[in-house]
Amino acid sequence: MSRKPVRPFRSQDWFRNADHVDMAALYLERFMNYGLTPDELRSGRPIIGIAQTGSDISPCNRIHVDLAKRTAQGIRDAGGIPMEFPVHPIFENCRRPTAALDRNLAYLGLVEILYGYPIDAVVLTTGCDKTTPANIMAATTVDIPAIVLSGGPMLDGWHNGELVGSGTVIWRSRRKYAAGEIDEEEFIQTAADSAPSAGHCNTMGTASTMNAVAEALGLSLTGCAAIPAPYRERAQMAYATGKRIVELAYEDLSPSKILTRDAFLNAIMTISAIGGSTNAHPHVMAMAKHAGIELTQADWQSYGYDIPLLANVQPAGAYLGERYYRAGGVPAVMWELLQKRKLYGDATTVTGKTMAENLENRQSTDREVILAYGKPLRERAGFLVMTGNLFDTAIMKTSVISDSFRERYLVTPGQEGVFEGRAVVFEGSEDYHARIEDPSLGIDENSILVIRGSGPIGWPGAAEVVNMQPPSALLKKGIESLPTIGDGRQSGTSDSPSILHASPESAAGGTLALLETGDRIRIDLNQGRCDVLLSDEELAMRRNRPMPDIPVSETPWQEIYRNTVGHLSDGACMELATKYRTVSRKKL
Ligand code: FES
Ligand code: MG
Repeated sequence: MSRKPVRPFRSQDWFRNADHVDMAALYLERFMNYGLTPDELRSGRPIIGIAQTGSDISPCNRIHVDLAKRTAQGIRDAGGIPMEFPVHPIFENCRRPTAALDRNLAYLGLVEILYGYPIDAVVLTTGCDKTTPANIMAATTVDIPAIVLSGGPMLDGWHNGELVGSGTVIWRSRRKYAAGEIDEEEFIQTAADSAPSAGHCNTMGTASTMNAVAEALGLSLTGCAAIPAPYRERAQMAYATGKRIVELAYEDLSPSKILTRDAFLNAIMTISAIGGSTNAHPHVMAMAKHAGIELTQADWQSYGYDIPLLANVQPAGAYLGERYYRAGGVPAVMWELLQKRKLYGDATTVTGKTMAENLENRQSTDREVILAYGKPLRERAGFLVMTGNLFDTAIMKTSVISDSFRERYLVTPGQEGVFEGRAVVFEGSEDYHARIEDPSLGIDENSILVIRGSGPIGWPGAAEVVNMQPPSALLKKGIESLPTIGDGRQSGTSDSPSILHASPESAAGGTLALLETGDRIRIDLNQGRCDVLLSDEELAMRRNRPMPDIPVSETPWQEIYRNTVGHLSDGACMELATKYRTVSRKKL
């Protein structure tokens, strides 16, 4: 270990500033009131932040409250000085109107902390969906050495002898409840059984996906993402991560050296292979944008679409986090990709080694859960990038499209992949809930449900509502899902065939705003198109009518968010923030 940092630690500017002894004294004295000594703070050792995302109101990340002790021990043992501080909490399931509003808020808060305090490097604690991108976006803006420590998924959930996975079981129970097959008590008990321990969602929802993304980007130690939260290996990983970040501080190995275009393409390919959440799309776009890396919609299709599904994990597969971890987790999936040259093995990672070196001897030990590239669970697990006259871009996860669905919507037998249906349009999720059972809408098995007003500006934050459930009359007939289109998102644990993230959103003048119930929509999966079957003249005429209402902002942040947010397809970033990447680093 080199004890001379590649560049002087910035914290010494606070604590050993010879030109401003008065200020150094002022900075030092208050850290002593919990027992730190001037010697420690003036020793030239790096100050390592632990960005704490866990708390009582963010239960998915609460394991980090305990893990931080072990992380701090690792930092100490490697010669650093740990300082833990809170990050604005983000709890996916609970935050109203939606947790998506808080990704940019947590980002902003963390940038100010990393920039404005004497922190030389940081451990980013991640777990629940948006905590991962918020942390990484902030670290890349300030560009101090950073490492991701995932909190890990919950243990596998069991109910009546069956695996029950986070979120996925809620969507399934909701259908059973609506069809009168289970009562409220059974519903609640099944949900409770799906959450048997500390940790984040145990399915391949957005949390597991985004932690896999952090690993695929090269930002966490190898194998970090999949370790279940309560396992001993999780605390051992916290210790190792604490040790490693001190080295990263000395080496000045900052995110800008790791977050290259290759790293982002590695993330896209990995997302496909794990059957990852559609929410990864805006988060990856946002992280790339903040990192100054050009990533396009087309990249998702060129690099991701053809990758087969290798992880047999719910909602696309059968198993949950524990089996997935034992099978080898993210490195075992990436190992498969590497053998087929579907990965950039030379990418730099926080281990100090290349991605290919990290993946040595990491092949799957359980072929039922992590399959070989040549014998996948399903072909083409990536997202299809769609365009058409309803939006410029949207994405669709085709791996969840069932055979019965394919048959029902075929326009002409034999013409695989072309669907047509009658649009039924809802103005946001309240309208959907109020009217979905209304028989006058005439919803049948050839309807396409459309939800607008659910994008970043419309909702605000972009609601996870596009996975709309059919009315109970259809559920009772065994029709479990209808195709849906929307300018919002859907839960990563959902298994609906949906066209998501339609951009520009209706609230920003997108064509979805012009659609009416009864219009015919054609979806062509072969061409990647989705069009309303109306003439340009008719659409132009509808443009002159008043646009759908947008609900008023209810808090100051909602207004700021709406005034600063970009399109979902570009990551729904706070657009003005992306220019600070180079500014902040230069000033540090
Ligand atoms: Fe927090 Fe899924 S709700 S991880
Ligand atoms: Mg979610």
